[in-house]
Amino acid sequence: MKHIALIPAAGSGSRMASLTPKQYLDLSGKPLIWHTLSALAKVAELDRIVVVISPEDEWWDSFDWSGFARLEVLRCGGASRAESVLNGLYAVQAAEDDWVLVHDAARPCLDPALVSQMIAALTGHPVGGILAVPVADTLKLAQAGQHIAHTHPRDGLWQAQTPQMFRVAQLAHALATGMGPDITDEASALEKLGLQPQLIMGSPWNLKVTYPQDLRLAALILVAGQQ
Ligand code: CTP
Ligand code: MG
Repeated sequence: MKHIALIPAAGSGSRMASLTPKQYLDLSGKPLIWHTLSALAKVAELDRIVVVISPEDEWWDSFDWSGFARLEVLRCGGASRAESVLNGLYAVQAAEDDWVLVHDAARPCLDPALVSQMIAALTGHPVGGILAVPVADTLKLAQAGQHIAHTHPRDGLWQAQTPQMFRVAQLAHALATGMGPDITDEASALEKLGLQPQLIMGSPWNLKVTYPQDLRLAALILVAGQQ
């Protein structure tokens, strides 16, 4: 039974408003995805590291990836994140009960120790689980015009992160049967089957680079993580 990291990297980064997809933007002197792969490369428990890029990707080949062991690339990204992951699962040639750890290319500040902890906690688990952090802020439900309708209790609310770790065949089945706009992460597809993924404590530093200002924050986190 293997542990395979699957990294969806086929998005266009529309909220970043840059011609270059955000996974290839410069972050501390390297393409952003370099940091993501570098963190995963430090996880000894991972047998394979598989990146899913778009068939139209013009950037991947312009970088030198030879320093990364265990790295594979699949040019089978789809129109949505869920489609990219599902296409990757179909193409990855893994055993049905192998574990897949899906991790956003756009999360470059991942702490490798958290991935090892997750693998240790979930390898005997019947379903799998995700990194997540408890919601810290007070939550408001807005009506039209940004009027507050009410304050939503935050007890029991967590923010999903990645990696998200599930069995290859079960995740492929969940995504294939549940595919739709409501499936915004792997866990939501498993939940649609009535299963209950485990929450594993993540880190607020594991941010997803989404907007331009996130790049500056990610650069600061990378420096802080090295101290
Ligand atoms: N992703 C993907 N295939 C898609 C869309 C997204 O593999 N069709 C990947 C992105 O490359 C990213 C991860 O899924 O690593 C998380 O998605 P997100 O942060 O939403 O990235 P984008 O979709 O590229 O950004 P945006 O939503 O702003 O366009
Ligand atoms: Mg997106």
